[in-house]
Amino acid sequence: MRRTFSEVLQARRALLQGALAVPALAALPACATRPAGVSPVIGFAPIAASREDALRVPPGYEASVLFRWGDPVGVPGAMPAFRMDASNSAAEQAVQAGMHHDGMHFYPLPPGSGRSDHGLLALNHEYADVRLMHTDEQNTWSAEKVMKSQHAVGVSVIEVRSRDGRWQVVRPSKYARRAHARTPCRVAGPAAGHALLRTEADPAGRTVLGTFGGCAHGWTPWGTYLSCEENFQSMFVDRGALPPERRRFGFSAAGRGYRWHEHDERFDAARHPNETNRFGWVVEIDPYDPSWAPVKRTALGRMKHEGAACSVGADGRLAIYMGDDQAFEHVYKFVTARPWNARDRAANRDLLDAGTLYAARFNADGTGDWLPLAGGDQGEIVVKARFAADAAGATRMDRPEWIVPHPVTRAVYCACTNNAARGAGKNEGPNPANRRPNNVMGHILRWREAGDDPAATSFRWELFAEAGDPARPEPHKKGNISGDIFGSPDGLWIDSMGTLWVQTDMSGGLMNQGDHANFGNNQMLACDPATRVYRRFLTGPSGCEITGFHTTPDNRTAFVNIQHPGEGWQTSPRQVSNWPDYDPGGRPRSATVVIRRKDGGIIGT
Ligand code: FEO
Ligand code: CA
Ligand code: CA
Ligand code: CA
Repeated sequence: MRRTFSEVLQARRALLQGALAVPALAALPACATRPAGVSPVIGFAPIAASREDALRVPPGYEASVLFRWGDPVGVPGAMPAFRMDASNSAAEQAVQAGMHHDGMHFYPLPPGSGRSDHGLLALNHEYADVRLMHTDEQNTWSAEKVMKSQHAVGVSVIEVRSRDGRWQVVRPSKYARRAHARTPCRVAGPAAGHALLRTEADPAGRTVLGTFGGCAHGWTPWGTYLSCEENFQSMFVDRGALPPERRRFGFSAAGRGYRWHEHDERFDAARHPNETNRFGWVVEIDPYDPSWAPVKRTALGRMKHEGAACSVGADGRLAIYMGDDQAFEHVYKFVTARPWNARDRAANRDLLDAGTLYAARFNADGTGDWLPLAGGDQGEIVVKARFAADAAGATRMDRPEWIVPHPVTRAVYCACTNNAARGAGKNEGPNPANRRPNNVMGHILRWREAGDDPAATSFRWELFAEAGDPARPEPHKKGNISGDIFGSPDGLWIDSMGTLWVQTDMSGGLMNQGDHANFGNNQMLACDPATRVYRRFLTGPSGCEITGFHTTPDNRTAFVNIQHPGEGWQTSPRQVSNWPDYDPGGRPRSATVVIRRKDGGIIGT
């Protein structure tokens, strides 16, 4: 039976009042029916900004490291220990945690149980740092080293279990798996088999080796994980005359130092131009079924995908919100043609292959329009989604990163992390939704769809927050933050209590302009959307960014990812941080951290 939105809302309120009646929730869609609150009670004592090479949480909380780069994922019969001198082989790296943990989601076990003490974590490994992953860095170069690097990116699925609040990775586990830059992925949707995706190695254009650049993530109500390919151009070199499309993505003759092309020719873009079209997609992975090949869902468009956040309408159709994280790129939404099927999981297998892709236009009067990208060769439209969005008149944004819908109100929050190029030289100046020139601090937008229907084609938007330090001068420092200050919002999450969590990545904005010291290391803050007061909940080790946040259904365990500890502009990461192991001869390692309240209470309250 189809329920109206107000009926669903009423049911959720009843569940919340019923002290998180988890078993009843299991029958409801996972991404839309967490026991949701609209007025969170934030109760922790905020912590000061910090430049320590340490992870800090408020009094009464504890943080423990669960899953670091190089830890075995738990594939039966293949669990090599990490070696601190980075001497693990490529084959070992293929069954160990990748580098640079990012978006992450918790999936209860058994499936649909709603349990909070046992489940799967699926997480992205955004990129590889060749300085850290080889004993002699790049002094020598080989096919083995390329393969190790290719095995260090992609996705991990691990089984995790808590005993008395102590979480551990379950090893071995039948669910444990890695997807990486050599994992066969199926291509589905309008670009499957398209001439633009065909290569010498794959003349059918339907099977791609690998997924990488996965940044933030998405999820579906049927319990799959969406990895979102972002800076895929970094892994290629492109030494010919760059066509406008690849120039716009930032392909370059030098690449970013990965040197994959030296032993894997497909990463030479001038020789294999269509290989570049096979990345930049949202990739669906079933954490509950390691035998299921990842699927590139091309209907959702090709861009530098940040995340793919799901909101379920009253009619059961899904809206997937997506930021294209590059200066002056767009915000997108994909709406499925059909409702999802809560009774038959298999019926949702191809749901993300048919629907409408839109780009957003933010009008000066506070209204907004979703502009359909359609008409003509849809395969070409999705491959070149950025150009279709330009032609439709979409707004050029300040690096849209995570977008999250509120699970009850369906209001949507979007972090525009920074854009120091706004208004510089011949660049486009401010527009109503991106109103600061030299926007090094970033901002957060909020919109509500017409009728609170995620499938609507119009919305109303507002500027929810302008980041920065109110004590410092405008135009680009001051902002309007109440409470604890931050810059460059990146990760966003709204938990089922209704708390908005903001994670920062100041590396691209503040550090470049020498403002790092005022804000401390990257951090995570909690905000009640009604009061818009921010409280600092966590500060990370030196040089890291904070990303990937998910809680168990009971909200008593939070999982957070600490990415690239030690990142610096001129120095080796090893000179900046050696978190989390503090091994004198060691190296910093991205890691998943578990956060609990010492009294076992609800996180953030
Ligand atoms: Fe990978 Fe846009 O952050
Ligand atoms: Ca990000
Ligand atoms: Ca970022
Ligand atoms: Ca990152």
